[in-house]
Amino acid sequence: MKRPITKEDPYNVCFVCLGNICRSPTAEGIFQHLVNERKLSPYFFIDSAGTSAYHIDEPANSKSQWTADQHGIKLHSRARRFEATDLDEFDLILAMDQENLRNLRKLSRNGQHTEKIKLIRNFDPQPEDGEVPDPYYGGMNGFQNVFNVLKRSCESLLDELEGLIEK
Ligand code: 4NP
Repeated sequence: MKRPITKEDPYNVCFVCLGNICRSPTAEGIFQHLVNERKLSPYFFIDSAGTSAYHIDEPANSKSQWTADQHGIKLHSRARRFEATDLDEFDLILAMDQENLRNLRKLSRNGQHTEKIKLIRNFDPQPEDGEVPDPYYGGMNGFQNVFNVLKRSCESLLDELEGLIEK
């Protein structure tokens, strides 16, 4: 996970949930927004994906979009499935919950990617049970909670990664 980050060799981050329509597109949008605010966009490639194929090609869930929009953040994702080849392409792969984490680890047959696959809430100053709860079947409160958890987690993640940038 730790390596020098330069414009020539940007850092590749992928956020992963189940459907790639609620939690991981929100994380992608927040992290990109923070990177842009700090004028660090040449140093990062940011993406998201799902461990399932349920919603391939769909835009982010309307409740996720509405919540992000309230904070001035547009979600531009189209759902895609996380592929085994992504394990090699990304420097850091951030799972939203334990189930995503298990599925990602299973994709890495020889276990060589363990170091780069982590729970996003490892970076949350208030990690609680370590998971970002699935908001899909619930009301707006769940989506707002997801946004708040991911905002905190992405801020502290970027604080840490910013220290690796060599300008
Ligand atoms: P996400 O939410 O993993 O945060 O995108 C879900 C989206 C769809 C389903 C479950 C969770 N689903 O069962 O279709």
